[in-house]
Amino acid sequence: MSPGPRGHEVRRLVPHVVEGAADADTVTWTRAVQAAFLGPRMDPGDLARAGAAFAGQRLRGVYETADPAPVATLRSWDVRMAVPGGEVGVDAVSSIGVRSTHRRRGLLRAVLTDDLAEAARDGTPVAALTSTQGALYERFGFGLATWTRSLSLDTRLATFRDPAPTGRLRTLDVATLGPAAAPVADRARRRHPGSMDRTEGSWSPLLTGEVGFAGMVPDRGRHAVLWSDATGRPGGYVVYRVARGWGQTGTAEIAVLDLQTTTPESYRELWRHLASLDLVDTVSWADASVDEPLPWLLADPRTVTAGTSREMLWLRVLDVPAALTARRYPVTDRVVLRVHDPGGFAHGTWALDTSDPVSPAVAATRDDADVALDAPELASVYLGGVDPRVLARAGRLEELTPGAAGRLARLFAAPSVPWNGIRF
Ligand SMILES: CC(C)(COP(=O)(O)OP(=O)(O)OC[C@H]1O[C@@H](n2cnc3c(N)ncnc32)[C@H](O)[C@@H]1OP(=O)(O)O)[C@@H](O)C(=O)NCCC(=O)NCCS
Repeated sequence: MSPGPRGHEVRRLVPHVVEGAADADTVTWTRAVQAAFLGPRMDPGDLARAGAAFAGQRLRGVYETADPAPVATLRSWDVRMAVPGGEVGVDAVSSIGVRSTHRRRGLLRAVLTDDLAEAARDGTPVAALTSTQGALYERFGFGLATWTRSLSLDTRLATFRDPAPTGRLRTLDVATLGPAAAPVADRARRRHPGSMDRTEGSWSPLLTGEVGFAGMVPDRGRHAVLWSDATGRPGGYVVYRVARGWGQTGTAEIAVLDLQTTTPESYRELWRHLASLDLVDTVSWADASVDEPLPWLLADPRTVTAGTSREMLWLRVLDVPAALTARRYPVTDRVVLRVHDPGGFAHGTWALDTSDPVSPAVAATRDDADVALDAPELASVYLGGVDPRVLARAGRLEELTPGAAGRLARLFAAPSVPWNGIRF
């Protein structure tokens, strides 16, 4: 428990579900999230499923005296996130909501700073969230780090360049996908900096739709297909649902909710399957990577329409040496970064030395800095998804030695475009 703004306190709850029912604190907390996100009222079964899905996670509420229901909420949990050449521990933050009558009194600030302070004390190097709004989180040191792009495939026109299907496809009840899909997702995420580890509590409900984003109503319309190679080893899976239309007319649209693949073959064969579904004319994917290979698989790339790109991950560096040494760098250099961070966590002047390619070194230094930047910009360049030269052109990163932004761009370049395909 810690004091919040006057008359409020921030409390941490441990979610419990006993004999099929969520405890009173979990119920009031979950209902508060629902209300903040304009969600429908949940019945006891929904609340129990939500409570069970929150097991092992940290629920925070801001409480007023004499009101058992929180006026602000936040949920966080520990995940591993892929970074170039490795992975890093992340405080994943979600379910930030403030009662509509209590906004703009500093309650978001109170609950988020409490969570970040605890994560930093626990030695978690980075925090991450996905946001409903674009102008909220920079003031807390978060910087935009990954984007997704929607795409849409016209299945009536799609012809694959490579005509022969390979491997084996299996339809599965999405509720039973976990054991086969978890190792696939784990291998797949290592190919994309920014991809999160699918811990049981966080990814299973997301995948099955039993508990949706922020505890929204269950989505029971999900289907799953698993692809295995010739030896029977699972190499990829897709989860999808009908997004529009009436299948019997043959004009339905399928929305991909999650597609994880470990090889070019598994990617091609799952797309070939989606493109061949009866009763469907369109397959869309809202949160694809910005560099999907799909158009390159087809005889006519125009059968894929790329949509607008949307921001996905906002990152916040809580521990500069731990975050920067968790990843690898493609070139040898020594760059001194002066980081301004009113939140304190990343503040300082840091020398990043990559002369040992397997063991980069980061230390506080009194040396003159090569670049000056704020905490959000440090978070933005961290995965390699944002070019420091662009930030310099926008006046958000200052070159203190000539050419330093270019050196930083080469140093932080990622082997593949950062991507995290699931909002949380
Ligand atoms: C967005 C929301 C969490 C803000 O909560 P809040 O308690 O009103 O925020 P605070 O009073 O703590 O404000 C903190 C800072 O954010 C700013 N801020 C708050 N809401 C903002 C908004 N919608 N857009 C831009 N800035 C905003 C405040 O001006 C304040 O800035 P300052 O500290 O630099 O002066 C709340 O309005 C809400 O629950 N909305 C619906 C659910 C939602 O969208 N949640 C966010 C999920 S990512």
